[in-house]
Amino acid sequence: MNNQSSPKTVENAHIAVIGLGYVGLPLAIEFGKKYNVLGFDINADRVAELQVGKDRTQEANLKGLKTAMELKKKGRVGLSFSSTAEDLRPYNTYIVTVPTPIDQFKAPDLTPLIKASEMLGKVLEKGDIVVYESTVYPGCTEEDCVPVLERVSGLKFNRDFFAGYSPERINPGDKINTLTKIKKVTSGSTPEIADRVDALYRSIIEAGTHKAPSIKVAEASKAIENAQRDVNISFVNELSLIFDRIGIDTHDVIEAAGTKWNFLKYQPGLVGGHCIGVDPYYLAHKAQALGYHPQVILSGRRVNDHMGAFVADKVVKLMIQKDHKIKDSRALIMGITFKENCPDIRNTRVVDIYHELVQFGLSVDIYDPWADAVEVKHEYGLDIINEISGNVVYDAIVVAVAHNEFLKFDYKKVKRNNGVVFDTKACLDRDLVDGRL
Ligand SMILES: NC(=O)c1ccc[n+]([C@@H]2O[C@H](COP(=O)([O-])OP(=O)(O)OC[C@H]3O[C@@H](n4cnc5c(N)ncnc54)[C@H](O)[C@@H]3O)[C@@H](O)[C@H]2O)c1
Repeated sequence: MNNQSSPKTVENAHIAVIGLGYVGLPLAIEFGKKYNVLGFDINADRVAELQVGKDRTQEANLKGLKTAMELKKKGRVGLSFSSTAEDLRPYNTYIVTVPTPIDQFKAPDLTPLIKASEMLGKVLEKGDIVVYESTVYPGCTEEDCVPVLERVSGLKFNRDFFAGYSPERINPGDKINTLTKIKKVTSGSTPEIADRVDALYRSIIEAGTHKAPSIKVAEASKAIENAQRDVNISFVNELSLIFDRIGIDTHDVIEAAGTKWNFLKYQPGLVGGHCIGVDPYYLAHKAQALGYHPQVILSGRRVNDHMGAFVADKVVKLMIQKDHKIKDSRALIMGITFKENCPDIRNTRVVDIYHELVQFGLSVDIYDPWADAVEVKHEYGLDIINEISGNVVYDAIVVAVAHNEFLKFDYKKVKRNNGVVFDTKACLDRDLVDGRL
């Protein structure tokens, strides 16, 4: 734990943030208010947008972005952007925030991390530090990334250059628990580097830091935060499958059980996104590599991955009970992002509902004012509608995401008289809905 007061700045730190997505951009902005910072991304379009103050993730504080960029124009600190690797050379502290997805077999895909490490190996100089923030399994920094840095740079780890790991805990769309308000776990490859990495983050994180005893501990801490959440949600999702058969409402049960002081009130739902539904596979991969086959972690994943199909099956059953002909009926799915009030569609499980309904022969529209239609087409090959015209009435409506706009929406206007409304988020008035998770 750290009780030390926060340093204003860490002397002689020139920071480059590699990967300017949901995680990297807010970080580059905060550091840019105090340090000389380069925000680097291989996506030249993203860099061009940021250079004119546009952030398509809607995660960054645009005022902060403007302030940090203006500072750079005036003096020694501030933020600028580039997609040219050579521009990284003058910096000495590299923070890597590139994606860590899984492949089609649900195994970690380290390609972005390895490519970023190869690129940094080319510009690394004596005394430099590379801090990884991407979510990984314990051991990844030192066993997978550092050897790449050593090989490409020709420098020796912990003599010529150093490493750190500081997991990111931001929650996209959450405007209260923002980067500087969340305590940050830090670590370094030597005690001195751990102190320096910790001081660096303490200089921008108002909530303070927790210096972990090793890089592996810091890596593991992040992996288990997300795995714990996934397993907890899988438990209530399983309850939902059971209570559906019993014919009672899961939320009613949770509300009743939640009156006990030590009951954890998790809610059932789809588990999508690039974190909760992905990171447990990183931990499982490491466990399997060491000869242990995780049971709780992977069974939780299986339950959660099944929920989209369950929702679709349930909707069809409810339609049959109301005497609907299923084939060529029309369904509307409200929301495709992986969570509410956020444009992120990565690994959204709403597509499972869509595909299952289509397999039943329904004609399905998806509406989401937060999602970028081009991105949805590119990622999933699906066309989403950009408005609900009112000319079409739907036999079934599935509220898949609790965007604020959907809470006030007049469902009666677009629902056939005996149509079915399924509320996966328990966010609508119960009189309006036929079923919920
Ligand atoms: N988004 C979150 O809420 C969140 C929270 C905690 C941790 N994380 C973790 O942080 C990491 C980054 O996630 P994100 O959501 O910011 O991803 P993102 O996809 O939003 O952004 C990643 C950026 O990295 C860029 N990039 C990819 N490969 C690169 C390379 N080789 N060099 C330079 N840039 C490269 C991409 O163009 C993209 O702009 C992941 O490991 C993720 O699991 C994310």
